[in-house]
Amino acid sequence: MTPGHLIAEVERLRGLVAARLGLRFETRQLPWLAEVLARCAGGPPQDYLDRLASQPAELDALAPELTVGETYFFRHAEQFQALRLVVLPALLRARRPLRRLRVLSAGCASGEEAYSLAICLQAQLGLEREPWDWQVQAIDLNPEALRKAELARYGAWSLRELPEALQQPWFHAQGQEFSVDIAARRHVQFERRNLCSEDAEFWHPGGFDIVFCRNVLMYLTPEAVRAALARIRRSLAPDGYLFLGHAESLREQDEGFRLEHNEGCFYYQRSAASETAPRPAPVAATLPPTPPPRAPQPPAPARPTPEPLLELLRRERHDDALALTAALAASAPPDPALLLHEALLLAQQGRLDEAERACERLLPLQAAPAQRAATHYVQALCLEARDDPAGAALRYRQAARLDPGFAMPRLRQGLLARRRGELALMRTELASAARLLRDEDEHRLLLFGGGFGREALLALCEGEQRGAIA
Ligand SMILES: C[S@@+](CC[C@H](N)C(=O)[O-])C[C@H]1O[C@@H](n2cnc3c(N)ncnc32)[C@H](O)[C@@H]1O
Repeated sequence: MTPGHLIAEVERLRGLVAARLGLRFETRQLPWLAEVLARCAGGPPQDYLDRLASQPAELDALAPELTVGETYFFRHAEQFQALRLVVLPALLRARRPLRRLRVLSAGCASGEEAYSLAICLQAQLGLEREPWDWQVQAIDLNPEALRKAELARYGAWSLRELPEALQQPWFHAQGQEFSVDIAARRHVQFERRNLCSEDAEFWHPGGFDIVFCRNVLMYLTPEAVRAALARIRRSLAPDGYLFLGHAESLREQDEGFRLEHNEGCFYYQRSAASETAPRPAPVAATLPPTPPPRAPQPPAPARPTPEPLLELLRRERHDDALALTAALAASAPPDPALLLHEALLLAQQGRLDEAERACERLLPLQAAPAQRAATHYVQALCLEARDDPAGAALRYRQAARLDPGFAMPRLRQGLLARRRGELALMRTELASAARLLRDEDEHRLLLFGGGFGREALLALCEGEQRGAIA
């Protein structure tokens, strides 16, 4: 609970942080925000808040307290594969006359993403006969993270997903740490910058060929997401590429972008054709889980998702959808279908502990195998988000076994298999997913498709299978 005497102050802090830094804090986070306020104020909170409001630098200094900096080298390896095998070759062809490339790591945290990009580019451009002029610009709100990034020295934990072949040429042991090779380092430039502030010079039209903005938009308010995406769209070259986190999508914010997929991941390419009037709100979201099944045996309610909830999901109002679901699910006796939606929405918002607890509450209430399948699917998503691919694969298998008509666990299992180099398993799972997706229920896709529609998911399955055969 937020201490009673601080409620108004904490709300004011939440408003200032949203307006200036773009960061979104939900009601459940207010007690924590109250602690931050009490710790940082160092005196009467009102005076501190007045200073935050009148001196932007004071608020900027709060960024290390308020941001999540989780990152590591070659995070979501399949995206770097797509970059290496598809995106860079296409850009190299297109930019050969100028031999110039600009890449942006937006929300770079402590630099692992920016250096991973630089390693990919240097590995490819270093082979060119003529030198190229290229650079990775890396921006973040958090000055402490940027200081670490500048040092370019990392512990083994940051290198945990690094392909072995890249360790030796690009990292040099220095005591307990590893430093990034200068050949990649010299092309990376870090800068403290707020994705939510306008700066016409930095975001000039066509300034970047590739933007990585991964696992950042999920922390921002809908207004900040809209403004940040408008900036990114403007500053991408007309044929430039945008990578979001591997489980994020633009959902309805996709004007001016075409969805592409390769190497088991989605990304976007700018497309001049669709640059039309902006659509309403949205938020990047996560590839998520299911509703009740139209499964074989025990009859699950045919369509238990209440229409108002579906409408909120269609309109990307995930916070409201979660609040509605929690309110409905609190009624007695507990409705397993609603609890499942709650668990799914929690997982999509990255509230993994709560999602997992909801799944544990749910399983004893579910008799029908197809309902249990959906819960296992949510558990698998949480495990994937926790970087436990083996645990996630096990849960996806359970989900697919319990509900043989459920497409999404097959699809996720196929993508996981690809990451683990299990190509035969990947082919089987993606072929099943594609078959099932054709008949998959619309509502189930809305809930579990992670913002991607039937056609996009089918294209992903089919493209990946073709890629594996080639
Ligand atoms: C979870 S990290 C993501 C790091 C990296 N992109 C990755 O995916 O591994 C999110 C980063 O976004 C940064 N961030 C959040 N809001 C930002 C904003 N408005 N402008 C710039 N950076 C921001 C945070 O400081 C944090 O370092």
